[in-house]
Amino acid sequence: MKRTAVFTIIAFTFLSFSGFSQESWKAPESSKSTKNPVSEKKVKASAKKGAITFNKFCIVCHGAAGLGDGPGGKALTPKPANLTSLKVQDQKDGEIFWKISNGRGPMIKWGPIINESDRWDLVNYIRTLKN
Ligand code: HEC
Repeated sequence: MKRTAVFTIIAFTFLSFSGFSQESWKAPESSKSTKNPVSEKKVKASAKKGAITFNKFCIVCHGAAGLGDGPGGKALTPKPANLTSLKVQDQKDGEIFWKISNGRGPMIKWGPIINESDRWDLVNYIRTLKN
């Protein structure tokens, strides 16, 4: 009886963990309407600042060009996202901002680490990676 319970717990933990990482990652619906606070006039300067933050915190997993091929991501499941891809670029600024802020699995929750304005700079930088 006891053994079955332990086995069940282990099986569930394993299944939910592996299932979690394979599910596509969707930001909550409400994040779509979060407005990018950076004005059109300042977006270039913001992206430039974002590049500096990216090279400090993100490059190790997402790679220099954002392709998801950084050395720190090689052993991760799921792999770091290809930020140049349509899958990412088709999302609203608010969704990308939400994902950076909240993280999932090996993708770090950056909200408590990088301030809000710097996170918007990252979103604006990620937009320049669109191919
Ligand atoms: C430790 C490795 C690691 C670091 C460092 C990292 N990421 Fe990630 N990132 C990931 C992984 C892994 C995923 C995929 C997560 C998933 O799908 O569950 C991801 C996903 C993302 C996504 C979501 C893409 C999508 O599918 O919509 C964005 C945006 C992102 N990262 C931006 C960043 C930014 C910006 C930084 C730096 C502040 C950063 N990441 C740092 C590993 C990392």
